[in-house]
Amino acid sequence: MQTHLRGRDLITTQEWTKDEIDTVLDVAFDLKRRRALGEPHPLLRDKVLAMLFFFSSTRTRASFEAGMAQLGGHAQFIESKTTQIAHGDTATEIGEILGRYNDGIAIRQVDWGVGNGYIRAVAEASRVPVLNMQCDWYHPFQILADLMTIIEKKGDPRGLTIDVSYAYASSYQKPLSVPQSLILLATRFGMNVRLTRPPEFRLMPEVVAEAEENARRSGGSFEILEDFDEGFRDADVVYAKSWGAMLTTTDEEESARIASRYSDWIADERRMALAADDAIYMHPLPADRNIEVTDGVLDGPRSAVFDQAENRLHVQKAVMALTM
Ligand code: CP
Repeated sequence: MQTHLRGRDLITTQEWTKDEIDTVLDVAFDLKRRRALGEPHPLLRDKVLAMLFFFSSTRTRASFEAGMAQLGGHAQFIESKTTQIAHGDTATEIGEILGRYNDGIAIRQVDWGVGNGYIRAVAEASRVPVLNMQCDWYHPFQILADLMTIIEKKGDPRGLTIDVSYAYASSYQKPLSVPQSLILLATRFGMNVRLTRPPEFRLMPEVVAEAEENARRSGGSFEILEDFDEGFRDADVVYAKSWGAMLTTTDEEESARIASRYSDWIADERRMALAADDAIYMHPLPADRNIEVTDGVLDGPRSAVFDQAENRLHVQKAVMALTM
């Protein structure tokens, strides 16, 4: 267990050691138990978190805000469009100024080619921890919640096979942040990771290289498949969701046209039957119902999606209590 995390940013789990991530999970399980028992745990009394959103959110906003209240503090909800950012407030100014008012700054900025750099620039100027509520490259709190859920459902993740798969969606070009963070963290915990995607839906080569290195060090494995059905075969965890063709084109319309070639990549009951008998289905939500995944799978007995959503609360409270 690591007890010296005060002041640390969390932008990607790759920048935290496995010991530090184990500490987060340990504290998250404890806070989940304490909440279930109705035991107060005001570990951040009088502390304030600024939550700066450049993009919409249901779960992230609600869970960070609830988490801060349960820890005895407060969360400020700030939408970029109601600030002076469009009129000139720079990332450095945001880091300096929000850092002087608050005890932590959480940011969601998912614009491709912008988000991660923006969050890092704020962190550079901030005197308080900066937490990544999702950028164009990473979604660390989602994936910590996912790992917690896998441990709850399956026990020790080492040796489990997870299919991190593209699925079709028509709503919008979703960021690469979930699959990228997922292949990075699952390989560090010794899982056998399959990345299943059409050729136009590659992830960033440097992230794939890091996942390969993680697998080599942890004793897990990492492979890339291009056959949607094969990805499901005998998997213990199926995590099939959509993302955009950002590395093929940055044009939204062209990306949508490319995606439409794969409209049959839907997580359905036939495909789930190819997975292990006790396989679970995971998705961070929101999902394009009956396009990306069928109602039968999303609402079925193997779906872990509501536990994933709940565990956002517990892992975020753990990281805030440890860092702020
Ligand atoms: N999974 C997730 O981040 O949900 P929101 O976009 O609703 O915050």
